[in-house]
Amino acid sequence: MRHTSAIVRSVAELRAQVAAWRGANQRIALVPTMGALHEGHLSLVRLGRERADRVVTSLFVNPTQFAPNEDFDAYPRNEAGDAALLGAEGCDLIFAPSVEAMYAPGHATTVTVAGVSEPMDGAARPHHFAGVATVVTKLLIQCLPDVAIFGEKDFQQLQVIRRLTLDLDLPVEILGAPIRRDADGLALSSRNAYLTAAERPIAGRLNVILAEAAAALRGGAAVAQVEAQGMAAVKAAGFQSVDYFDVRDPDTLAALPRGPLTGPARVFVAARLGRTRLIDNMAA
Ligand code: PAF
Repeated sequence: MRHTSAIVRSVAELRAQVAAWRGANQRIALVPTMGALHEGHLSLVRLGRERADRVVTSLFVNPTQFAPNEDFDAYPRNEAGDAALLGAEGCDLIFAPSVEAMYAPGHATTVTVAGVSEPMDGAARPHHFAGVATVVTKLLIQCLPDVAIFGEKDFQQLQVIRRLTLDLDLPVEILGAPIRRDADGLALSSRNAYLTAAERPIAGRLNVILAEAAAALRGGAAVAQVEAQGMAAVKAAGFQSVDYFDVRDPDTLAALPRGPLTGPARVFVAARLGRTRLIDNMAA
């Protein structure tokens, strides 16, 4: 049913609304996003509606998770379009703070998560996860939802958030939601908007290469061989560079022994195509 989601911009307004719902014994779901919403985000909102009485979606392009050379300024922003999509999904409240409302003058506290933050995107984008962990901790404390929902496309981010929630005793359930994909399997991402018509079919190869790697691992291939072949296949598909093509433990994200799998594993890739950096992952 189509309705308009109310928009609040201050933590005080967010807390007042959440307190009113709590007073009526309602469960609250939070879907943190940076806006530029697509079907992947909307699937998180739908999951929120299944798991709670009220859904809050945050729209905040968080400057602290972008390095100076990254795409903070260019990151797609479309609050009116996002609000229309959220209204159509039955989202109850949009929290869209300004940078100043999120980070008051003199802001001096950063949340860093050792271990799971360190490999892969943590190595390729050194300050990224501290920015993510800090803003997600703030959002969780600002809203105090019963459940917060994140997409598995950013699987490392999800594990970082699970870790900080445990370590800081935050009273919230963290729920991961399956990756949503285009018809050719390309994982939905706001950054897919950067792809040119010529790049789009190349981007669609990434998930095919991941699926081949996962199948090879299940068939008994050695981790070292699958990583090397995956890296070569991504380059051969037309990507300019590959930040990583890794097979890792799905919980700790630790590297695995170099031979055939002896337990659960997930394959992770990050690669650059023109001005777009794409990431994806798949269970083996
Ligand atoms: O995944 C995202 O969109 C962002 O990293 C998040 C979790 C909203 C934090 O800014």
